[in-house]
Amino acid sequence: MLHRTRLIVLGRQGAGKGTQCARLAARLSVPHVSTGDLFRAEAADGTEIGRRAAAYLDAGALVPDDLVLDLVAGRLGGPDARALGYLLDGFPRTLAQGQALFEVLGSGAADIAVELHVPTSVVLPRLAARRVCQDCGANSRAGPGDPDVTKCDQCGGTVTRRTDDTDEAIHRRLATYDRESRPLLDWLDDRDLLVRVDGVGDPDVVHQRLLDAVRNRIPAIDDV
Ligand code: AP5
Ligand code: MG
Repeated sequence: MLHRTRLIVLGRQGAGKGTQCARLAARLSVPHVSTGDLFRAEAADGTEIGRRAAAYLDAGALVPDDLVLDLVAGRLGGPDARALGYLLDGFPRTLAQGQALFEVLGSGAADIAVELHVPTSVVLPRLAARRVCQDCGANSRAGPGDPDVTKCDQCGGTVTRRTDDTDEAIHRRLATYDRESRPLLDWLDDRDLLVRVDGVGDPDVVHQRLLDAVRNRIPAIDDV
């Protein structure tokens, strides 16, 4: 029987959730579901949900659970996620969201959750240097003195800082992670659903660590 991959990737801001999920999605052909990316797309399209979420995103505050759960239910109900599973990036991030996920989808809602562990002293320079293409979503790293707005190497689109990669929003996001996500991590750990992976090092090395950490719960990894 085809095994649907259902993986949760957690970690503080700048830990590399998006970077590692993009690699895993390409390798396993499983949809990468990032709630942050979904909210940014809704905001860019000017939808009702995007308008309601935008102020929270820019301030680095959590979007209220009802909006998040609506968005996720819509995405996980799509035909690709139903057939192939999902890599959840940035959801759940509170205990209430984790409990809602398992209540709605049952005990198989996730095979395993990974916390990418990276200390604050390492994520701060990563976030300060991050630039994102507004057209293709590619991440790049600005060097010292580089302008805030440049052209994308990959698609020629406009590359800018994320609106929440300001000092104030970064510090608020990090404090929120420590306060709101810790009870979720403990809850997953109590259910034997959490592994911790060191997220410091070359992204290829982190990718390999991640594969090794989840291999026994995600059989599809051995098929590729
Ligand atoms: P979201 O978009 O999820 O942002 P985040 O949690 O702040 O995390 P980041 O995207 O900043 O970090 P990342 O771990 O993905 O790191 P990345 O791979 O980019 O959420 C944004 C907002 O949406 C929230 O603040 C909230 O308002 C709202 N929201 C989303 N989900 C929600 C939810 N469930 N509930 C309520 N509100 C929600 O890497 C960062 C940088 O480091 C990049 O430049 C990358 O190239 C670089 N990098 C990555 N790995 C490495 C490495 N190994 N070595 C060196 N550099 C690396
Ligand atoms: Mg991200």
